[in-house]
Amino acid sequence: MNVNMYSNSIVRENISILIKHGFNIIEPEEGDLACGWEGKGRLPEINNLLLQVEKVLTVQDFKQDNILITAGATREHIDPVRFISNPSTGKMGYAMAEASWLRGASATLISGHSELSEPYGVKTIKVENAYDMYMEAHNNFNENNIIIKCAAVSDFTPKTNSNNKIKRNGTGMNLKLEKTDDILQSLGNIKTNEILVGFAAETDNLIQNSIKKLKNKNLDLIVSNDINKEGAGFGTDTNIAYLIDKNENVEELPIMSKKELAHKILDKINELRS
Ligand code: CTP
Repeated sequence: MNVNMYSNSIVRENISILIKHGFNIIEPEEGDLACGWEGKGRLPEINNLLLQVEKVLTVQDFKQDNILITAGATREHIDPVRFISNPSTGKMGYAMAEASWLRGASATLISGHSELSEPYGVKTIKVENAYDMYMEAHNNFNENNIIIKCAAVSDFTPKTNSNNKIKRNGTGMNLKLEKTDDILQSLGNIKTNEILVGFAAETDNLIQNSIKKLKNKNLDLIVSNDINKEGAGFGTDTNIAYLIDKNENVEELPIMSKKELAHKILDKINELRS
């Protein structure tokens, strides 16, 4: 539709009558219009249309909730061309953000490095390193009642970050690292009624190590996965997880897509607060 036609008061009035009668309206997108004008009136991207339809067909059981999600890999720079990071692609956190939005929540995503496009309907804040993620997590903490920390945060960062590229002189290089702050732990320390969910990436003693993290970080739920298992961990489209709640109830889940797992986590959160 032409932007002026769309903003015309008669069209607006007719749309509000449709809404009053229970119709769902998918808003057009902004940009170049077929008639040569620019503005609101474009057919939304097909993927976004599908998501809106899926949302209409999804129970809006998180309509009252503000959910903060962290995702992706942090990058700790040594100099402008080198950094320490990890293989996280952000798939789990982005699926979590999408599922939250689909179920009616107002979702905010704090994302480290990820090649994925920003999830539709979700406020996305991009960060580079563990320090930035810590700051954004704390800046956004008060506005959210559910916090889900999927991000793969670097545990160590270089003591110094050179503004200039370090030259390849000599025979080698010694890199001094210091510990980053544990973001989840710091949120666990200040939480009151919020529901705090963490992830645990483990290679051994899965359940014991995860319960230790759950207790130490004051979590309500931990999603524990063995990153060495085929079909679980970094970069895969699937995950094999255990959901362990604050009462140490352990639920073993079969292999499933990260999207399905995101919905299972939301189901579990509902169970915990019922
Ligand atoms: N986490 C965090 N800040 C860090 C490190 C981890 O918020 N600096 C969060 C992760 O987002 C995840 C949880 O803590 O939700 C567990 O992360 P994991 O890497 O499994 O464990 P660590 O606490 O780093 O402990 P370890 O590396 O010794 O297993």
